[in-house]
Amino acid sequence: MNIIVTGGAGFIGGNFVHRMVKKYPEDTIINVDLLTYAGNLETCKPVENEPNYKFYRGDIADADFVNRVFEAEKPDIVVNFAAESHVDRSITDPGIFVHSNVLGTVTLLDACRRYGIKRYHQVSTDEVYGDLPLDRPDLFFTETTPLHTSSPYSSSKASADLFVLAYHRTFGLPVTISRCSNNYGPYHFPEKLIPLMISRALADEELPVYGDGANVRDWLHVSDHCAAIDLIIHNGRVGEVYNVGGHNERTNLEVVKTILHALNKPESLIRFVKDRPGHDRRYAIDPTKLETELGWKPEYNFDTGIAQTIEWYLNNREWWEHIISGEYQNYFENMYGERLS
Ligand code: NAD
Ligand code: TYD
Repeated sequence: MNIIVTGGAGFIGGNFVHRMVKKYPEDTIINVDLLTYAGNLETCKPVENEPNYKFYRGDIADADFVNRVFEAEKPDIVVNFAAESHVDRSITDPGIFVHSNVLGTVTLLDACRRYGIKRYHQVSTDEVYGDLPLDRPDLFFTETTPLHTSSPYSSSKASADLFVLAYHRTFGLPVTISRCSNNYGPYHFPEKLIPLMISRALADEELPVYGDGANVRDWLHVSDHCAAIDLIIHNGRVGEVYNVGGHNERTNLEVVKTILHALNKPESLIRFVKDRPGHDRRYAIDPTKLETELGWKPEYNFDTGIAQTIEWYLNNREWWEHIISGEYQNYFENMYGERLS
């Protein structure tokens, strides 16, 4: 089969490409990525010389480009990871989220209709459900929880999901959607909480915790997310949404302290800073449907996963030191300069 993976030079898409190229040598994995600030060909290095791997650089919202790729590659499956993915950036610049996340998705769906496809899979997020209160630990997001978004990022992802479902209902396109909780693991761009804190703690720099650090995220190791998508594209039911999460809820403060302890750094590096506007309080996924229908089970819990991740950042300094030495410096100054001054 020919499988187009968009966003395969990013964090989760990159991990997925590694998995698919190695696991399915008889399939061709076609990575389509614009290489925005978050895309990095260094992430594709482990597979770049494999005979069943190809790369195209371009914008998924550019219909001419997308049609050229579809004509050349005749994909059987399309897995769409490509997106602007950072909530803080969506607060500063929402327009690009509409372009890549909404228009990009619709452009891919149109190409799938035109050329025919066995499966279109949309990689979505639990953030489309909004947030849960901190004092109701009994509540979880299920696939029937109403969409109730908070940020421009989550609104763009929810819009994309609605288009995907509309193309199924209206045009009969064979689609599936996965909505996963927060990922962490190798090749995670150091603007997100966990890699940001690891890289800064290693440099003995202050760790900016938003608000009081009591917000809760449900953390899943990226390889468990990739395994779930692999199962869904092969065995999932068309037209269905599957939640992905491993019941690993932690407050942000707990996460930051775990990282500090693992690196033998003092808690005095923690700096409470001005909160993110509209900051979601708690995310928590109920993955029962994925577990019972498709037999998915995560390999990592948070303790084993964070240990593996910290180890990876210690052993792959070149990958992230290169990133934080460039344009990232300006990003950090704009996003945190005032908060940390
Ligand atoms: P990322 O920001 O690390 O990578 C995104 C990739 O998409 C980059 O390689 C970038 O170059 C590419 N891209 C962006 N716009 C593009 C465009 N217009 N055309 C082609 N390529 C483009 O993101 P990530 O964290 O790997 O997330 C991947 C997907 O998973 C996203 O759709 C995100 O919404 C979803 N998701 C992420 C998480 C998480 O915790 N990171 C959790 C659930 C779902
Ligand atoms: P993030 O990694 O941006 O993921 P998301 O907002 O999609 O959940 O943030 C995870 C949590 O960490 C979120 O509650 C915001 C918080 N956070 C900080 O406290 N400080 C930071 O510097 C960052 C980037 C995030």
